[in-house]
Amino acid sequence: MLTPESGTDVKRTSLHGNWSSRMAFILAVTGSAVGLGNIWKFPYIAGQNGGGAFVLVYLLCVILIGMPVMMSEILIGRRGRRNPVATMALLGEEEGASKNWKWVGAIGVLAGFFILSYYSVIGGWTLTYVFKSAMGSFNGASPSEVELAFSTFTGSAWKLTLSHTIFMGLTVFVVARGVERGLEKAVRFMVPALLLLMLALLGYAISSGHFGAGLDFMFSADFGALDWDSVLAALGQAFFTLSIGMGAVMAYGAYLPEETSITGASAAVVAADTGIAILAGLVIFPLVFANNLNPADGPGLVFITLPLAFGQMTGGTFFATIFFVLLTFAAWTSALGLVEPAVAFCVEHLKRSRAQAAVLVGGLIWLMGFATVFSFNLLADFKFYKGTLFDNLDHLTSNVMLPLGGVLIVVFAAWVMCRNSTAEELGGAGRLYKIWRFLARYLAPVAILFVFAKAIGVIPELS
Ligand code: PHE
Repeated sequence: MLTPESGTDVKRTSLHGNWSSRMAFILAVTGSAVGLGNIWKFPYIAGQNGGGAFVLVYLLCVILIGMPVMMSEILIGRRGRRNPVATMALLGEEEGASKNWKWVGAIGVLAGFFILSYYSVIGGWTLTYVFKSAMGSFNGASPSEVELAFSTFTGSAWKLTLSHTIFMGLTVFVVARGVERGLEKAVRFMVPALLLLMLALLGYAISSGHFGAGLDFMFSADFGALDWDSVLAALGQAFFTLSIGMGAVMAYGAYLPEETSITGASAAVVAADTGIAILAGLVIFPLVFANNLNPADGPGLVFITLPLAFGQMTGGTFFATIFFVLLTFAAWTSALGLVEPAVAFCVEHLKRSRAQAAVLVGGLIWLMGFATVFSFNLLADFKFYKGTLFDNLDHLTSNVMLPLGGVLIVVFAAWVMCRNSTAEELGGAGRLYKIWRFLARYLAPVAILFVFAKAIGVIPELS
């Protein structure tokens, strides 16, 4: 049996197969990280929170908190090689603590359910916009026409239900087939293509004549406008966009070959994800200002600015269609990361086949999706706490569940696991290891808890 000291002879194998290479793993995690969070959510959250100062806090959160959390998740995942619930139970015991660490995995599975329930609805929007674009609906359209098209679409519970159902179906389909076959190929093509198209759009945004205003909005930091709620939103966005704090990366780490460098892989993913988010901002904000739109407009921002821009470009129908296809792919590969923990759990514990597990989990999440579908029409006026049901789901998951999951994950990796185990996974106790350990032991947990305490007003302002 394994004892806490026997760190060096842990050689478990995953029950679900392994990634075929280091590149496959990086692509899969990048596919999970790059999604609606970067292109749909980042611009509107930055817009609602005033721009520059928010972006700066977001970047700090990504580097100082996101990166160590991601490394912790991967190392835990690879060492346990089970679904996140079983991995946490197993390592909890093995490291001489308690099996109850499994609850961290369980919170993650639940967060994945909640997030995907709304993510799938927005994924349905992107899918619908593929068809709208292909039919040339936005050719030469004015800002008010594009806005009307968006509000008419989201105002229809039927249309949202239909597209949500199709998106969920696509997700279940790929997960049921197993992660390796479909996913690796999709991501290999999708991430570079998306990047290229965003660069082309950047050229358009620069020529819109309002690039300066966009740059200014994104990078001139006015800290006076930033309150603790915005700081919490920046922290939550960092977690959401990197897919951390809920076990998605942990589940993917379980299929990672022994010799891959966790630090290198994490750095690659963080860089790609952040680069795409910043690029999205640089594309969207100049268009917002060029068309007299409001950056704080909320979830419709990308679905209004981009169709408008495409509608005025030569070849716009073509580029708009490609763009929404790529965004659908990006959302799709992220959705896979959101269900993987739950599916792996069902396969291991309920002794179901992958296909059965995917249908079961997908069906439950599909049902929960109605809370979001109705938030934009039938229940649009039903508001409490942070707003509609969708607003509350989003707040609860991104700003509460993911950061809390993150604290528990780093505390487990850096305080509960023994030094030998973590050093072994991270490739020795060199300088990078020491930096990781410092950030994971002290900075990340303290910073997260502090931001929470401030946002809920436990620590009063010094005036
Ligand atoms: N990171 C994804 C995005 O930015 C969302 C996601 C969160 C995916 C958590 C998996 C796990 O769109």
